[in-house]
Amino acid sequence: MRQSSQGLFISFEGIDGAGKSTHITGLSEAFIHKGYQVTLTREPGGTRLAEKLRALILNDAMDALTESLLVFAARRDHVESVIRPALARGDVVLCDRFTDATFAYQGAGRGFDLQVLTQLEHWVQSQAGRGLAGDLLQPNLTYWFDLAPALAAERLAGARVPDKFESQPVAFFEAVRGGYAARAAADPVRFARIQGDQSKEQVFADVLLAAQQRGFLQANAHG
Ligand code: TYD
Repeated sequence: MRQSSQGLFISFEGIDGAGKSTHITGLSEAFIHKGYQVTLTREPGGTRLAEKLRALILNDAMDALTESLLVFAARRDHVESVIRPALARGDVVLCDRFTDATFAYQGAGRGFDLQVLTQLEHWVQSQAGRGLAGDLLQPNLTYWFDLAPALAAERLAGARVPDKFESQPVAFFEAVRGGYAARAAADPVRFARIQGDQSKEQVFADVLLAAQQRGFLQANAHG
């Protein structure tokens, strides 16, 4: 059994329009109902500094290395000042996107060097900032909301003014989806692939089931 004092880290991923947002709120309510403290956060963002970087990343044109460095700079601040302290308190941390998004968007989508991203991942998510083996912070569970890019584009159309990523062509999201598939294949225990082309109710049922199957939604005896 997971020690309550170590917390639980869950991330939510998928291409834009795959429909993860409502289920983050739903899962948060389910954990609160079971007696857990929940920290709800997002990337890029989650701190004052990281939210400023988010505005730049989502709106300004830049090359893929610059974008990757800014994403990981935002992540470092977020990990150190929000995620690690919350996990140390024993919270359930629900994070709307994390590093898999960088591998999917900057790596697979923009074609940036995956080895460099792996190096940055180790620098940013290890406690000492040196990427020591065994010290890498990763989510305990990552939901991948998977939906065909053409369908996701239909859902997004007209919903709001698209940001830099949302206005990319379907081919970009095909590549991003491939990036998520590769990350999921490399870490099948951490990933739960959720089929996004179902009713909202069925998608949420699948979300709950994946958490329950891992023993993550039991009543919190310490809460
Ligand atoms: P998103 O999570 O979809 O938030 P919202 O629902 O408010 O639009 O938007 C974040 C965007 O940032 C999304 O298009 C993916 C992109 N992104 C990256 O390109 N790299 C990353 O590492 C992260 C975390 C996000």
